[in-house]
Amino acid sequence: MSLHRSGLLIVFEGTDGTGKSTQLQLLAQTLQEKGLPVVITREPTDGTYGKQIRELYANRDAVSREEELNLFLADRREHVDQLLLPALQSGKIILCDRYYLSTVAYQGAAGLDPAHILARNDFAPVPDLALLFHAPIQTGLNRITQGRGEELNDFEKEDYLRQVAAVFSQMDLPCIQRIDAARSIEAIRCDILERVQPFLEKLQ
Ligand code: ADP
Ligand code: TYD
Repeated sequence: MSLHRSGLLIVFEGTDGTGKSTQLQLLAQTLQEKGLPVVITREPTDGTYGKQIRELYANRDAVSREEELNLFLADRREHVDQLLLPALQSGKIILCDRYYLSTVAYQGAAGLDPAHILARNDFAPVPDLALLFHAPIQTGLNRITQGRGEELNDFEKEDYLRQVAAVFSQMDLPCIQRIDAARSIEAIRCDILERVQPFLEKLQ
């Protein structure tokens, strides 16, 4: 999608428990300390469709795979119109926890065609940078159950996540930079800062 925009869209992608939310918060803090205008957001959102999606976590088979895809797309449309485009046009640095690469990988792993899913996202602004976190699936799952003390939901089944990871690993888009997420929080933080720096220079 081509439109004039003066901000930056940085998205955090990858399988569950790879540390996306942790690193998003750390990057937000660093950018805010530099006085930069940061907006933090996530998908699924907290809007009407996002809430419907969260209800599916405990019972994924309540809708068909195509209906599930439509819910993620409807949520994204609302997010793009209400938050992402206005923020980009007013020069904000948006840090978004999951975006359309998650749809390609998760709904792709659920049986839909990844190329078809990507094409259906053509309304959504292309990220300037997609940080794609990868770590062994078991590492992520252990972090979720031990670290966050949570039970695994229907989107977090091990075999399914292996297929999700396989779709992520085949992606080849110019915006993607891969992050080895099996390292320490601090090592990943420094790595991400280095990758983001050139985008900040272009912004100023
Ligand atoms: P995600 O957003 O990718 O699902 P989170 O950022 O919520 O992942 O991290 C999941 C859990 O793992 C949290 O308890 C977090 O504190 C912990 N964690 C995050 N990054 C690391 C890391 N590099 N090493 C060890 N634990 C981590
Ligand atoms: P997650 O990012 O872990 O957020 P939280 O658990 O804090 O709500 O969960 C979102 C889940 O939704 C995750 O398992 C991936 C899935 N998902 C999709 O299947 N398709 C999508 O398009 C998006 C954005 C997320």
